[in-house]
Amino acid sequence: MATAKIIALAGSLRKNSFNQAVITHAAQLAQQQGSEVEVISLAELNLPMFDEDIEAQGVPSSAQQLKDKLRSADAILLASPEYNGSITAVLKNAIDWASRTEAGATPAFRNKVVALFAASPGGLGGLRGLNHVRDILSGIGALVLGDQLAIAGIHGFVNDQGELTDSATSEKIAGLTSQLIDVTSKLKS
Ligand SMILES: Cc1cc2nc3c(=O)[nH]c(=O)nc-3n(C[C@H](O)[C@H](O)[C@H](O)COP(=O)(O)O)c2cc1C
Repeated sequence: MATAKIIALAGSLRKNSFNQAVITHAAQLAQQQGSEVEVISLAELNLPMFDEDIEAQGVPSSAQQLKDKLRSADAILLASPEYNGSITAVLKNAIDWASRTEAGATPAFRNKVVALFAASPGGLGGLRGLNHVRDILSGIGALVLGDQLAIAGIHGFVNDQGELTDSATSEKIAGLTSQLIDVTSKLKS
């Protein structure tokens, strides 16, 4: 099977982000399965708030980097924290920057296979926000897998080093990650 090139990111800037922990774990599993994976930290990328006036003066290098990385990937492992039943401003801002297309360029999300994760200390695991992320990404051409994973009570499954410690949760993450790799590899071959 052709090697899948995957970008992994989470919609949080928090140093001890649970969603970043989930996506880092998924990235490690994908690497073990032979995929080429790059984990992006939106905190490190430090994108400005999207503003067409800023864009008109020249796309900031952070936004260009994000766009280029997404364009060169086949698939995306995406963990979306839930704020007030929806997507975080941080993730929407990143999507807005990346969605902007220069003349002749390929839209960054077009035909990218996406596996959606959410993690929350709450009982629904961020499930409600995933519907919104799915809607947004599908609308800009991403191929979002029907299966998704919302992890409830995540604070009990991650240690102080940001490592996932629960084997049952790890197995669920592995299942969705494998599905992303399988679908992506089939599309590439
Ligand atoms: C403004 C705000 C709104 C939130 N709304 C929700 C919510 O609707 N559902 C939920 O499960 N958790 C909600 N939370 C709690 C987050 O799930 C929790 O802060 C989580 O740790 C965020 O993800 P992160 O650790 O990756 O940053 C909210 C947190 C904040 C700051």
